Formats: sequence, C-alpha cells, structure tokens
Amino acid sequence: MASPVTEAEVVRVRVAGKINLALRCGPLREDDYHELATVFQAVSVFDEIEARWAEPGVFSVRVVGEQAALVPTDGSNLAVRAARLLGERFAKDPVGVELVIHKSIPVTGGMAGGSADAAGALLACSVLWDLDVTPDEMRDLGALLGADVPFCLTGGTALGTERGDQLAPVLSRGTYHWVLAFSHQELSTPEVFAKADELGLADDDLTVPAGLLNALVGGDPVALGERLVNDLQPAALALRPELSELLEAGEEFGAVGAVVSGSGPTVAFLAANESAAIDLSVRLSNDGICRSVKRVSGPVPGARLLT
Ligand code: C5P
Repeated sequence: MASPVTEAEVVRVRVAGKINLALRCGPLREDDYHELATVFQAVSVFDEIEARWAEPGVFSVRVVGEQAALVPTDGSNLAVRAARLLGERFAKDPVGVELVIHKSIPVTGGMAGGSADAAGALLACSVLWDLDVTPDEMRDLGALLGADVPFCLTGGTALGTERGDQLAPVLSRGTYHWVLAFSHQELSTPEVFAKADELGLADDDLTVPAGLLNALVGGDPVALGERLVNDLQPAALALRPELSELLEAGEEFGAVGAVVSGSGPTVAFLAANESAAIDLSVRLSNDGICRSVKRVSGPVPGARLLT
C-alpha cells in the first residue's frame, strides 16, 4: 500500500475532457434529467488538480488558466463539492483541502470540464486523505455530483446510458486525431437541453448506430466520421447559429467528420490521420472563425495520479 501523504506534500491528478461520438437524447425524466445513450471518448485536453493539506473544515480552490475567471471559487465549485462529499462519506476524522485547478478544458464548452475537475478532486483527495474507496464507490459518488463525472474517472471510450452515468466499455481500436474548435461564448447545458425539448428533438429512439460501434472496432476514422451523431446539435445551432458556419468550414478544410461536442459550443472535427489533423488545425486557425483550435487525440485514460 502507498504510504500516506505528509502535510507538506501535494497530490497531483491529471484528468481529460470528453467528446461525445454519439449522443441520443430521450425524454425528460422525473428527476429533470434526460434519458441518454451516448458514446464518450476521452481526448487529450487535460485539467490538472493539485490537492494540499488544509485545516479540518477548510475547503478552498484557486483556478488558473486562460478561462479561470469563468470558474466559481466558492462552495459551488464542483471540485470543492466533490472534496466535501468525499470527506463526509469516507473520512473517519474531519478533513480539509486546498485545491488548485489548472484549466485547459474549455469552461461550459460541452467537454465535461467541471465534471473532470470533480473527478480529479475525488481521486486527489482520496490519496491526500489516505481513504479506502473502491473505484465503484468513487464512480457512485461521482454520479451524485454530475452525470459525466463517472466517465471522467474512467476515461477511454464508453457507452453511457440512463443519465449518461451508467457506463459500459466500448471496444475501440487505434488512435483518433481530432481538432477541437473552441468558441468565444459558452453555452449553458440546461439551456441546450431545454431548447432540444422545445424543438421536439428528444424521442424514444436511443439507438447508437451499429456502424459507429463497428467503425470503432475497426479503427476506421472515415467510417466513424460519417456516423458521428448528436441529437442536441440542432438545439446548440439554434442558440448559436454561427456554429453552422464553423461546421461547414471544417468539412471544407478536409475533416472526415464534424460534430458539436455534448451540449456545445465546442466542435470536434475528426481527421483521417495525424498529418491531416495538423493541416486542418492550421487552416481552421488561419480562418479565425473560432476562439482557438487544439489538436488532440483519443481515447486517453480518465483521472490519473501524477507522480
Ligand atoms: O449532471 P450535470 O450537472 O452535468 O448536468 C447539467 C444539466 O444538464 C442538468 O441539470 C440537466 O439540465 C442537463 N442534463 C440533462 N440530462 C442528462 C444530463 C444533463 O437534462 N442526462
């Protein structure tokens, strides 16, 4: 067993953002969530979470990075809520923590940035406080914080059902090369889901295209690109019409697939290979159509301890 962390030490965790290769949205449930069937893929844009000892009862967070000002640093911060919940449920004695989040995952961008930080805080604090928590217990706790938190703990490629929090592994071969286009403005997830309801986009068909799963097994980016699907995309486009132009530009610049990630507004473009991704990212960034572009690959693991 690992030796307990001393008070002078810091625990560092790296956690990836996600894109949704398929997102089928069903009806609104009694708990105000929508029934989903979604295929997640964790991609190589990472937040880093540092956890240090603090006096019992002290839970603080500092956020650094380009969009840090957009992240709350009070008790509503999802990483702080994660740390508190973990302490309440699993620590024998009162605990405290000082968290620092180095943000690279876009804030309110449809890539589970907040959920990733919660997942990172759960792992970091469980090590800092030397808690005995199984991966299943951690995922169950994560699901209480947000529907994407269990996936952010696990990473890789997975099918999410119910609220998106019930996970099953999906077989995926090879590495996929993506170009992410980050937007100037954020999109609120509940607003996008509400728009989807208003537009009648949610129905009982939660089928994930078999061709998409076969493309993943075969490691075929062209076949995957053709089958990317997101039922929330028309809602995101209704709220941010300029995203249509961005999607078209990516396809014109050689992407083999393009999809709004989750509730958006981040758009994920799939490239046929790494050099096509380099070319696509240069052309998109020269075009100046979005805030910034980032070349990433997936699948990558979920929350991991850094030594
Ligand atoms: O779980 P999380 O807090 O990340 O979800 C944010 C919001 O997204 C929810 O409050 C809900 O409005 C919407 N949502 C949904 N159905 C899901 C997941 C999220 O309606 N399965």
